[in-house]
Amino acid sequence: MLKKKITRRSWAEPYKIKVVEPLKMSTRKEREKYAKKAGYNTFLLKSDEVYIDLLTDSGTNAMSDRQWAGMMLGDEAYAGSKNFYYLWDNIKKYYGFPYFVPTHQGRAAEHMISKILIKPGDYIPGNMYFTTTKLHQEMAGGKFVDVIIDEAHDPYNEHPFKGNIDLQKLEDLIKKVGAKKIPYVFMAGPVNMAGGQPFSMKNVRAVRKICDKHGIQLWFDATRATENAYFIKEREKGFKSKTIAAIFKEMCSNFDGMWVSAKKDLMVNIGGIIATKNKRVYNEARNMVVVYEGLHTYGGLAGRDMEAMARGIEEMLHYDSIKARIGQVRYCGEELAKYGIPFVKPIGGHAVFLDAKKFLPHLKQDEFPAQTLAAEIYIDSGVRSMERGIVSAGRNKETGEHNYPKLELVRLTFPRRVYTQAHIDVTVESIASVYQNRKKIKGLKMTYEPKYLRFFQARFKKL
Ligand code: F0G
Repeated sequence: MLKKKITRRSWAEPYKIKVVEPLKMSTRKEREKYAKKAGYNTFLLKSDEVYIDLLTDSGTNAMSDRQWAGMMLGDEAYAGSKNFYYLWDNIKKYYGFPYFVPTHQGRAAEHMISKILIKPGDYIPGNMYFTTTKLHQEMAGGKFVDVIIDEAHDPYNEHPFKGNIDLQKLEDLIKKVGAKKIPYVFMAGPVNMAGGQPFSMKNVRAVRKICDKHGIQLWFDATRATENAYFIKEREKGFKSKTIAAIFKEMCSNFDGMWVSAKKDLMVNIGGIIATKNKRVYNEARNMVVVYEGLHTYGGLAGRDMEAMARGIEEMLHYDSIKARIGQVRYCGEELAKYGIPFVKPIGGHAVFLDAKKFLPHLKQDEFPAQTLAAEIYIDSGVRSMERGIVSAGRNKETGEHNYPKLELVRLTFPRRVYTQAHIDVTVESIASVYQNRKKIKGLKMTYEPKYLRFFQARFKKL
């Protein structure tokens, strides 16, 4: 007889630790000093001052032994590196796009695609904004239009595909401004700013139809597309028995092209991708990349980086790998829920997004609740998170006023293959402790505001 009944069978990560990087601990007093010095902006902390780093899953991943071994095979020829051709083959094989241009990271790809496709006065509909994506669209003279379903702006709506485009909103925009003023529609999957929420295959097929009807291109921000494929397998009728790789490729097949920040899905530390079926766009990007990034066979990357990317693509589509990744994020959310801590539902693919409006209801939005909460969590335990609210949303280009987004969030983002369940427990307990003392927390005042993407470098002081 067992002393205790078996009530669960746990899952565990499909890897073990071979190399470790020691973490530095600090005291609360030290962290108060560090936070003040950093202007209460977690982006301005030194990583040495951080214990558990959940700022981002971008470039912070642990590469596998196979990827590290590949780094030694870097072919650092200026032109025609063999690592480039291996990467290109894998982009064709797994994403399904015939043409490829490497870039050093995602925003370089966004910059070039925006420059190539957008004319001043154009409108670019998409499923919610992303900071760098929108900025490049605006810098090319375009105007981003949010056509995501309304459910995405409600943190507690449990819609399984909150990344879907509202087809009526899209049709209405086309009717209003005319198809000629819309160079492309874009979909990110999952949607970062909505809380890591996916779109469904049904939705992307329907968007494709509308685009075809009006002769508009459809582009994909495929930065975390493996997670989108996982959610389709889990939640959408007809996909349960399909492999992640098959769903992934089918998803991509709906698009004219994509840009990717390879620093996420591909489990590398640097890299970006433009890939497309459109030969004209390819030729322009292939030419433009030599101006901004480097020759079209390296695009700002070392040969070894492209080798790690190529190997990362082969690893990222394993069911167990993506299941464990999403499983960690889910574990964090489920543990937070036990304390009654408010966060965006359903739990997303790459991060748990705390609802700072509900966490700190006594703060007005222009006292920066999410910025404040991220700073408080850091001071409590050394866990670094990121503001995703009014600071990230920036100012209205025409009026100069703050944009007031409905979602005022703090993102706890999980690097791939980096932290253990114990790190998550420490994080959850710290947030619970901040939650318990939340009434005493005061807001912030912005003391320095940079012109572009202000959340990265803005400074604050305590009210
Ligand atoms: N698209 C999405 C959906 C992203 O999340 C990011 C970056 C980019 C594009 C830009 O790519 O950083 O390689 O230039 N997201 C990071 C984050 C910074 O923390 O969410 P990049």
